Amino acid sequence: MKDPATYRSARWYASNEMRSSNHRSRFMQMGYSREDWHGRPVIAIINTWSDINQCHSHFKHRVEDVKRGVFQAGGFPLELPAISLSEPIVKPTTMLYRNLLAIETEELLRSHPIDGAVLMGGCDKTTPALIMGATSMGLPFVFLPAGPMLRGNYRGEPLGSGTSFWKYWDEKRAGNISEEEWQGVEAGVARSYGHCMTMGTASTMGSIAEALGLTLPNAISIPAADANHIRMSAACGRRIVEMVREDLTPDKILTADAVSNAVVVAMATGCSTNAIIHLIAMARRAGVELTMDDLDKAGREIPVIANIMPSGKKYMMEDFYYAGGLRALMSRITDHLKLDALTVSGKTMGETLEGAEVFNDDVIRSVDTAIYPEGSLAVLRGNLAPDGCVIKPAAMEERLMVHEGPALVFDSYPEMRASVYDEDLDVTADHVMIFRGAGPIGAPGMPEWGMLPIPTKLVKQGVRDMVRISDARMSGTSYGACILHVAPEAAIGGPLALVKTGDRIRIDVPNRKIEMLVSDAELERRRAEWTPPEPKATRGYDWMYAQHIQQADKGCDFDYLQTDFGRTAPEPEI
Ligand code: FES
Ligand code: MG
Repeated sequence: MKDPATYRSARWYASNEMRSSNHRSRFMQMGYSREDWHGRPVIAIINTWSDINQCHSHFKHRVEDVKRGVFQAGGFPLELPAISLSEPIVKPTTMLYRNLLAIETEELLRSHPIDGAVLMGGCDKTTPALIMGATSMGLPFVFLPAGPMLRGNYRGEPLGSGTSFWKYWDEKRAGNISEEEWQGVEAGVARSYGHCMTMGTASTMGSIAEALGLTLPNAISIPAADANHIRMSAACGRRIVEMVREDLTPDKILTADAVSNAVVVAMATGCSTNAIIHLIAMARRAGVELTMDDLDKAGREIPVIANIMPSGKKYMMEDFYYAGGLRALMSRITDHLKLDALTVSGKTMGETLEGAEVFNDDVIRSVDTAIYPEGSLAVLRGNLAPDGCVIKPAAMEERLMVHEGPALVFDSYPEMRASVYDEDLDVTADHVMIFRGAGPIGAPGMPEWGMLPIPTKLVKQGVRDMVRISDARMSGTSYGACILHVAPEAAIGGPLALVKTGDRIRIDVPNRKIEMLVSDAELERRRAEWTPPEPKATRGYDWMYAQHIQQADKGCDFDYLQTDFGRTAPEPEI
């Protein structure tokens, strides 16, 4: 049990110096008295609520439940608001700001009298951002997931965030559904607070956080609107106070074993392609080297057993919760897990899985009845992507796994958008659509443009999938034969920059290959002619981002934020 005199916050409050006196009197200015803080762990609640983040609306209230838990356990809670990254609203992309939220989290914890933290996040990038920042700071923390929204509903049909939206949009473009029906979809797809309820980036990153041992057991699938979510919030408040007393710092939790568990769970859930970037970034913050090849290897070994959209056909996170949640899923793949890894609960992962049961075998499959026999992601390499790129075989049409066709290249989003709606576009279902200049530096921020829309002409012919290649990302709720995160990106002269319309492109997913069938001599000639694009960012945060952002295969973290394992950020000097 840690001596309260050694709490980090004691430096602010406990001494007889003038500076401490001033800190105390400023707390009394807010109506607190010595009994509120003296000898108590001071807990930061990093709240990513805002009026424009639909996925976190309930955090305005949940934060009070966290405070209740902190008080119950004898701690002193302080709510510290942080930037709220609403995935569908923030332009050009929340990815541009993931590292900003990570820095903000680290600095909020570092500059204030904090002993431990509850991180409130869930909408896509907020989860890795909060975890990256808090990991670098090194104080005890618990991640409180926003929880999924209720499943969507349109005339009794379940609708999935993103996934169903894109599908119905194609049917609308094909003239198969009316404007009125479309409006029904629009109103039915998102009908409560909470994050996207498909296995998109939010659910994936929540699952990864839980597998890393950073949430309370079975927390991540509790629907945001379920009263269990309120109780879980209060429990996070109670638990973080105990963690400070136990000195349960993240270096004891975020080990190589924990990262291995996160990779296994990511694959078994049919994770979002974005998971690759965030997992690498989070692991590197904890000093664990994780490569694209490690992820591909796991992808070959771990079956997808969560039957959730978009890899699955009809179920959502709400169904997953009723089927037993992540504990139940993990109980089915214990052979692949490191059960001795410690979790924020103070128990090992193995102990938290004891007694876990699956209540619906169709939602959480067994290894023998997996919805996809291999993991959900594959990493391809070749002369088009020497440092790798990512595809999600579990969510694409099988016939495209080995494919050769002519390239159709786009360099700007407006040009691409105008072309795909042009019904005279010279394109066939065999074409390979390529969109470049949308990587970490090129866009900047690597927006979710990678699920290029299938040209309307082909949609009307019944085509619903084709090979698409880009240095962008795509939403975790998207699907199709989309090859993403091509590294190095075109903006820094990656070979993607050298492709021309009409070049033959060949992909072979089983053999993990991606090639342009162009001779080395011709590529050399094109390289000599290539000139780098004018940088888009000339000032401000964008400029700083472009100076320091690393490529997708390195996790898109800033080069200056890498920390050695367990090393906390320097403490303020006075
Ligand atoms: Fe917030 Fe999808 S929009 S998680
Ligand atoms: Mg998303």
